[in-house]
Amino acid sequence: MNEHRSDALAFFGATGDLAYKKIFPALHAMARRGHLSFPVIGVAKSGWDLQKLRARARDSIQTHGGGIDEKAFADLVQHLRYVDGDYRSSTTYSALRKTLGNAQNPVHYLAIPPALFSVVVEGLAEAQCAQHARLIVEKPFGRDLASAKELNSIIHKVFAEDDVYRIDHYLGKEPVQNLFLFRFANTYLEPIWNRNYIDNVQITMAESFGVQGRGLFYEEAGAIRDVLQNHLLQVVGFLSMEPPVTTYHESIRDEQVKIFRAIRPFNREDLVRGQFTGYRNEAGVSPNSTVETFAAVRLHIDSWRWDGVPFFIRAGKCLPVTTTEVLVTLKRPPLRKIGENNHFRFRLSPEVIIAVGSQIKKPGEQWLSESTELKMLHDPESGEMDAYERLLSDAMVGDGTLFAREDAVEAAWGVVQPILGSVTPVHQYEPGTWGPEEADRLTQEIGGWHTPQK
Ligand code: BG6
Repeated sequence: MNEHRSDALAFFGATGDLAYKKIFPALHAMARRGHLSFPVIGVAKSGWDLQKLRARARDSIQTHGGGIDEKAFADLVQHLRYVDGDYRSSTTYSALRKTLGNAQNPVHYLAIPPALFSVVVEGLAEAQCAQHARLIVEKPFGRDLASAKELNSIIHKVFAEDDVYRIDHYLGKEPVQNLFLFRFANTYLEPIWNRNYIDNVQITMAESFGVQGRGLFYEEAGAIRDVLQNHLLQVVGFLSMEPPVTTYHESIRDEQVKIFRAIRPFNREDLVRGQFTGYRNEAGVSPNSTVETFAAVRLHIDSWRWDGVPFFIRAGKCLPVTTTEVLVTLKRPPLRKIGENNHFRFRLSPEVIIAVGSQIKKPGEQWLSESTELKMLHDPESGEMDAYERLLSDAMVGDGTLFAREDAVEAAWGVVQPILGSVTPVHQYEPGTWGPEEADRLTQEIGGWHTPQK
């Protein structure tokens, strides 16, 4: 790990959607904490000037950052610079070099379409902007195993792996980190967190909205590339990895890679793909598209701990609710009459809940039980960092724990590779439903899917 503190942040794609929705709000939050002490240089090819970028930043923070804190915003504006130029032109990089001024250890953040990653990396190198610098790369990191490997090799011509920070914003989320912490910080879980006591694991990532104008992007992605290869496999990773030797970042990431390698690559029988009715009418979507907006899979981990425990994942757009929830179901106790399955339920969003599903005596003369949950609720006022603030702050100080390492990204692509593309039929489903009925076949053996409540 490279521990120096970076002294400037250049972000490419400054006038784009991600900057608007996530980056400006994160920078504003950093300023509010008094953590913004370095120049922040927006780079884009839009014909804009600094004033226009400032106005965009204000609008972004008002809309997506929970409102403006004038003191923090003034701080951000004071540190904000802008370089306008074509990413293919060397003058853009010389202007950036000049704007970096005395900064010796900049971070370059590529919030741009992946097709431009290599162009910018080479441009940075030629203009001497890459020395002693770090690189943050947005997802999607490649579109399959081969392209991820190629991208890694392009980046490594200029940046050492220690200086590369691949974003998966799920890793920046407190409730996702809590899966890891809750497991390893509570002694009572360790003896049961394995095939002897756990019956199955389900992960649902439901979104009640569609592709929200991102049809063109989504046609290239689909649910498997968009959220399964990255966000949801990271959730599986934290739920299933072996205890790391320490919390030092390579130690955690080593376990992450090991578990990804133990996940059996998906096969077609374990996959059901769906597409919501109406998707084909979205702007940028082909009228014959077979891209999935819903995917359900059965996942197997070939390890000592997890042998025989099925993990089920389903993710989709236009489902009845927006929530991400994990249900870990324990095996039923032998006294069939009163025994029911216990569970741990981790609600990752919109609220954060850890619930322990237990059986208690049903009041009355008989020995009957009823289900209840002991709930730990998260305090929304706790002042925690949003994922992007956390990740940007970590990259600035050189902490890579919550970023995807080269080998992990490639291992994750290896898992989904056999099910990329239209390898199985895509079933239509009505918006507002839980996806195509065909998905029910996957969970028949455990009595059906767990349905998260609103
Ligand atoms: C993004 C996907 O990475 O994650 C989107 O591209 C998805 O399609 C989003 O909606 C979900 O993130 P969050 O933080 O809202 O759960």
